[in-house]
Amino acid sequence: MERSPAVMWTWLLGAGLVLVFCITTSTAFPRPPRLIGCVFIHRVNVTCHWEPGDTPTTKYTLQVEKISSANRSAKKTYTCTTHETTCTIGLNGSTSRIDFCITVTAHGGSESFSSHPRCQPGRTEVMLPPAILNNVTEVRGSPQCLNVTWSRVSSDFPVSDNEIQQGNLNSQIETVTEQLDFQIRNVTMEGYSVLVCHLRPDTEYTIRLRHRYRGPASPWSMWSKALQGRTAEDAPSAAPVFWRRVKQNHRNGWRLVSLLWKPLPHFLANGKIIFYNVTCQTESTPILSDHGSCKYLHHLSTSCSLLLPAGRSFCTLTASTSAGVSPKSKILLHGSSETESPSPCHITATPLNDSSLEVRWVALTDASVSSYVVEWFAVREKNSSTLYWEELNRYQTSLVITEGLKPMERYAVSVRAVYGERGAGKNTTLYTYTRQGTPSAGIDVKVQQISGGMVELTWSPVPVELLRGFLRNYTLYYRTRDQPARSVFVPGHARSYTLQNLSPGNYAIFMLANTEAGAGETGTMANVHIRSEDISVVMYVVVPLVLTILALILMACLAQHGIVKEKLCKDVPDPSSSSLSHWAPKTTLEATVSGNQAT
Ligand SMILES: *[C@@H]1O[C@H](CO)[C@@H](O)[C@H](O)[C@H]1NC(C)=O
Ligand SMILES: *[C@@H]1O[C@H](CO)[C@@H](O)[C@H](O)[C@H]1NC(C)=O
Ligand SMILES: *[C@@H]1O[C@H](CO)[C@@H](O)[C@H](O)[C@H]1NC(C)=O
Ligand SMILES: *[C@@H]1O[C@H](CO)[C@@H](O)[C@H](O)[C@H]1NC(C)=O
Ligand SMILES: *[C@@H]1O[C@H](CO)[C@@H](O)[C@H](O)[C@H]1NC(C)=O
Ligand SMILES: *[C@@H]1O[C@H](CO)[C@@H](O)[C@H](O)[C@H]1NC(C)=O
Ligand SMILES: *[C@@H]1O[C@H](CO)[C@@H](O)[C@H](O)[C@H]1NC(C)=O
Ligand SMILES: *[C@@H]1O[C@H](CO)[C@@H](O)[C@H](O)[C@H]1NC(C)=O
Ligand SMILES: *[C@@H]1O[C@H](CO)[C@@H](O)[C@H](O)[C@H]1NC(C)=O
Ligand SMILES: *[C@@H]1O[C@H](CO)[C@@H](O)[C@H](O)[C@H]1NC(C)=O
Ligand SMILES: *[C@@H]1O[C@H](CO)[C@@H](O)[C@H](O)[C@H]1NC(C)=O
Repeated sequence: MERSPAVMWTWLLGAGLVLVFCITTSTAFPRPPRLIGCVFIHRVNVTCHWEPGDTPTTKYTLQVEKISSANRSAKKTYTCTTHETTCTIGLNGSTSRIDFCITVTAHGGSESFSSHPRCQPGRTEVMLPPAILNNVTEVRGSPQCLNVTWSRVSSDFPVSDNEIQQGNLNSQIETVTEQLDFQIRNVTMEGYSVLVCHLRPDTEYTIRLRHRYRGPASPWSMWSKALQGRTAEDAPSAAPVFWRRVKQNHRNGWRLVSLLWKPLPHFLANGKIIFYNVTCQTESTPILSDHGSCKYLHHLSTSCSLLLPAGRSFCTLTASTSAGVSPKSKILLHGSSETESPSPCHITATPLNDSSLEVRWVALTDASVSSYVVEWFAVREKNSSTLYWEELNRYQTSLVITEGLKPMERYAVSVRAVYGERGAGKNTTLYTYTRQGTPSAGIDVKVQQISGGMVELTWSPVPVELLRGFLRNYTLYYRTRDQPARSVFVPGHARSYTLQNLSPGNYAIFMLANTEAGAGETGTMANVHIRSEDISVVMYVVVPLVLTILALILMACLAQHGIVKEKLCKDVPDPSSSSLSHWAPKTTLEATVSGNQAT
């Protein structure tokens, strides 16, 4: 055989090591099987695993020798024979607390090679029976902890009370929240109850427990059955986010102020909020006597209103659970005469769909800006609508809003910078729609005056709720029997218009409001008769268009059939004598259509 020097050296070194090994362990060469480990089931059985040696082997014998603690020479031996490298021996009810000497023998041909006997208490490798979990309870005054109590059946459990108290059990507790947040903690048992801490307050946990004897040689027991327990409540760990809205100015500069706040999320509330506490003060009066609606605030309230004087005022808000009071939220209200600090001046709002808008702004460079507040509300003619708001940190420059939005409703969206203790800056407001519609109401045109060939018309604007879009302009239609309908655009800000140079005849006049989405409903119509002499008002009748058409259709029918005229029309004014007599329904429809197309 040829060997390189390196291989030679390795071989020599190996031989040396084997020699040393043989001297120290006096194990025969070749290598016998090696016991890896056993698992004792108390009073039931023991299962051992081993590694084959390097001898030709046809079968193995596992020998378990029980050493009585009272009489060490009184031994009992159990064996089992197998072709595998694992075997289980019944313990015949014998305790695992005593010493066991375990040997594995490999049989091959005429020779047998045995592992060195390994003697140690059986329970070093015992798999304990699952613990019995009795109770998982909150701990008064420690909302981060649960008290877990358990028990054992002493005949099945090879560790005594004393040994448990001395810390001979390694234990693990598994905690799972409702959100399936899962954790395993190591605990040292010193009895039958243990505190599991660093939990979240007011949270339901599902708990399981398992033990092993002393260390990793003993495998973990099966998990106990699970039990649920809830940690105690704690005081809220943060103050609610606090905001205000100045609603109306009263006499002597007193202002009706709404205070608004966001409910605390559960992970900050640490329990069920029982009530909120609002107190306001000014620089001169320590506590205001009139609390308005801010006196008793139950757990569901998120706003209250009170009157505050003209000067600077401060309000504080706390939330309380059964366990205590949150830190304070503070808000400063500038005096009516104070100049407010600036807010972002470039804001945009982009509709994403019918019920959401993206608001963007350019951040201020002022380092004292602590946050931004985006506010929005539906614009109403009279009633003030719900104010929605959101506070964002100073690094954010956009917000997608979805709360309280619907199409064809005008919203005022504003962004304010908040300067920490110095309070909020002035607002920058824009008006927007998620989607514009056409006006749902018509315009009631009133004839103010007729003189010469001129007709002066007035109208009231469409309320913002019914406008459903930004008003662009109005289309004013007027027509006589002989001429096609004519129309003019009237600017959206106008409240009156004068038609000029009308030739004599009967005119039907009506008006539509146009938003960016198109023309709205037709309102009431004015009918004007312009005489050929010095033209004067004969009469003007204001009848809703739909009614007119219906009436005319009815009359047309009656006229055509010429039946029971007297009976039916007894109480109806004679249409032929009114200015409506020139109104033909067919041309109306055509004229309206062509009029719309013309716009
Ligand atoms: C050892 O005992 C346990 C507990 O009774 C049993 O579940 C297991 O099957 C037994 N092992 C063998 C190999 O019989
Ligand atoms: C110990 O056991 C051996 C063998 O079973 C027996 O001969 C001996 O008498 C016992 N000794 C005592 C003190 O019981
Ligand atoms: C098991 O124990 C019983 C009495 O406790 C004994 O009669 C029997 O021989 C034992 N069996 C073995 C296999 O040791
Ligand atoms: C659990 O603890 C509570 C309170 O200490 C007690 O009322 C209850 O009986 C206990 N339950 C069990 C199964 O021990
Ligand atoms: C845990 O519960 C047990 C049994 O109810 C009780 O004896 C022990 O005092 C409790 N521990 C704490 C810290 O409350
Ligand atoms: C628990 O103890 C084991 C060793 O026994 C260790 O590996 C593990 O990291 C420990 N787990 C924790 C959460 O401390
Ligand atoms: C509300 O807060 C004020 C001032 O901090 C305090 O004096 C008052 O007792 C609190 N009210 C309640 C019900 O906690
Ligand atoms: C509108 O857009 C928002 C944000 O993108 C989304 O959360 C919401 O589900 C959308 N609504 C509809 C009706 O599509
Ligand atoms: C004003 O608002 C209140 C409550 O939101 C409502 O009950 C009332 O009908 C509204 N009035 C008008 C004129 O819209
Ligand atoms: C912003 O200020 C203007 C004028 O002071 C006011 O009309 C408007 O309602 C305010 N907008 C908001 C959202 O408070
Ligand atoms: C009036 O408004 C309509 C609809 O928005 C538009 O199409 C039209 O151009 C406007 N006319 C004038 C003169 O502004």
